[in-house]
Amino acid sequence: MPEQWAYVADPFGNRIELVEPTPTIAFRPLTVDDFELLVEWFTDPVVAAWWDQPAEIESVRSKYLPRIDGTGDPTLMWIAEVDDAAAGLFQSYLHDDYSEHDIAVGLADAVGIDYLVGAPHRGRGLGAATLRAFAGFVLDLYRQAIVCVAAPAAANAASCAALERAGFERSHDCQPPDEPPTIAYTVWRATAAP
Ligand SMILES: CC(C)(COP(=O)(O)OP(=O)(O)OC[C@H]1O[C@@H](n2cnc3c(N)ncnc32)[C@H](O)[C@@H]1OP(=O)(O)O)[C@@H](O)C(=O)NCCC(=O)NCCS
Repeated sequence: MPEQWAYVADPFGNRIELVEPTPTIAFRPLTVDDFELLVEWFTDPVVAAWWDQPAEIESVRSKYLPRIDGTGDPTLMWIAEVDDAAAGLFQSYLHDDYSEHDIAVGLADAVGIDYLVGAPHRGRGLGAATLRAFAGFVLDLYRQAIVCVAAPAAANAASCAALERAGFERSHDCQPPDEPPTIAYTVWRATAAP
């Protein structure tokens, strides 16, 4: 029996599970084989409301293939896997590589993230769990960064709630170019002072 299961025995000796097992969360690089799944996710109205990407295979290919084969911009793309199943799309980038966004958010030495969770996994705490794991993942990966920043639209209540449950701190309001009013949320590297 996995150690993470907590249980008690009833008077008849039957085991009663008290908590769900902790899911295994991992991040792997996006591949071309994921493009059909991305189309499915971008077709979802909940995602479409907050992630501006046409849900067509050619559009997905032209946006994301250059990020996979290294010919495009330096944003890195990741599939979040929950218990080995593809659960969401995450991306990471140094704010230094996107100067207008960097200036608008106003945090030095930052790694920025964006994310979506597909409908089958959404709304049961996995958004928060994957965000917590991803903050640690990117701070390990980008050793030059001292802070992980998420900047959801202020009106994106589910995203703000998931970030707060994940342990991000609400930092400040900001206005990146061509985006709605935004709130910056932060997780600082353990040794760095904000
Ligand atoms: C943002 C997102 C990743 C969160 O994933 P999730 O699996 O729904 O997250 P969780 O279940 O861990 O938490 C969602 C929280 O939002 C709350 N929530 C969900 N829908 C809500 C709504 N319409 N209004 C207010 N709160 C809402 C939930 O109650 C929960 O809060 P709680 O933990 O305090 O109870 C997911 O909703 C998503 O992919 N949305 C579409 C894409 C997107 O918005 N990406 C972010 C762009 S910045």
